Amino acid sequence: MESYINKTDFFGGNNPEEITEKFGTPLYVYNENIIRNHMRAVAEVITKYPYTANYSVKANTNIHILKLALEEGLNCDAMSPGEITMLLKAGFPKERIFFVPNNVSDEELKFAAEHGVITSLDSLSQLEAFGKVLPGHKCAVRINPGVGAGHHEKVVTAGKKTKFGIQESDIPKIHEIAAKYNLTIAGINQHIGSGFLDPEPYLKAVTNLLRIARGFKDLEFIDFGGGYGIPYHKLDDEAEFPMDSFKKALEPILDEFVKDYGKAPLFKSEPGRYCVAEGSVILGRVHSVKENSGVTYAGTDVGMNVLVRPSMYGSWHDIEVIRDGKVVSRDSLKPVTVTGNICESGDILCADRELPEIKKGDLACILDTGAYGYSMCSSYNSRPRPAEVMITKSGEVKLIRRRETIEDLMGLFE
Ligand code: LLP
Repeated sequence: MESYINKTDFFGGNNPEEITEKFGTPLYVYNENIIRNHMRAVAEVITKYPYTANYSVKANTNIHILKLALEEGLNCDAMSPGEITMLLKAGFPKERIFFVPNNVSDEELKFAAEHGVITSLDSLSQLEAFGKVLPGHKCAVRINPGVGAGHHEKVVTAGKKTKFGIQESDIPKIHEIAAKYNLTIAGINQHIGSGFLDPEPYLKAVTNLLRIARGFKDLEFIDFGGGYGIPYHKLDDEAEFPMDSFKKALEPILDEFVKDYGKAPLFKSEPGRYCVAEGSVILGRVHSVKENSGVTYAGTDVGMNVLVRPSMYGSWHDIEVIRDGKVVSRDSLKPVTVTGNICESGDILCADRELPEIKKGDLACILDTGAYGYSMCSSYNSRPRPAEVMITKSGEVKLIRRRETIEDLMGLFE
């Protein structure tokens, strides 16, 4: 693909240079239509049986994006009391929130229960803690189905080497603890990892989880987790997650389970990245171009505090160069290392990438930043977090989070 920005008319007819004149850089820019389309796609992963897609809000908790999920009929999963609070604030009824935490305190377990939100416990120790503080309550348990997958070892969350979930051999102990505290195990869930484009491991994990589910009576729901990837190498025409063939392969696995189980519980999934990643870019300003030992460095204001994924996982994000409001053609390319403005040598967006020549004053447009972009921002080097704007379906550029200020940061000191 020559240009994602041009192909999708990402800025909805607005000039990106004018957007940055008004809102500054670095700037997260979202496209409402793209996000809604992705949310609609996950809402249809299962059509034959009762099903809800839970948007996994850790990918992006901007309240305006949560409201899009609400409008599109998605439910949500939350990882912390903070995420539960934001979901309630966005208007989600408590029944549409699923708390899927890891290593939480008794207070946090009580917080969810007091707000009427069901929790999944992901260890025997947490199940025991839950039983002690909330005897007689309903809950779910997170199972490790023995298969993991993900774009990087740091985001594989099932299989042998992971802190998440309860292993299959411990399932008899789940029943013991549940009986001891009179708990109802209403659901089981899994999440095998994040950002895979091959659905095979997920299908295998679904098969395993459903085999395990047969050992639980009267389950209200079974949640298969998220993880569907997106093509980060889209400018090189990388294929998308094969949603259609995935859905076709999933159906007979569900059919067989429903036949054996005697009824269809509510099936759920938990996609985060797939909903939002492709619906955002970051606009950053190129402040310097220099050569060090034969390497050309383009220095931008998109530091690892603004987008940590490249320095944290070595993740690839396509970059388009924008000059005078227009995408620069990729007819002639040169290797360049694009960096941020943070005091670390690892503060690199891409190394030796073939890009159109970058000049001081250009905009670097970083693609696919809607998931785990802003939600992983920090104020490292005392750089306030960026602003976020949304290109609405009517083409308006709407500020959806103001830029953090030094005063905001200073305000935390006693
Ligand atoms: N459910 C649970 C329990 C999860 O832990 C996660 C992600 C999801 C659902 C959503 O997964 P998704 O559909 O977004 O792949 N920061 C990393 C990704 C970490 C994912 C953590 N858990 C990254 O930037 O790639």
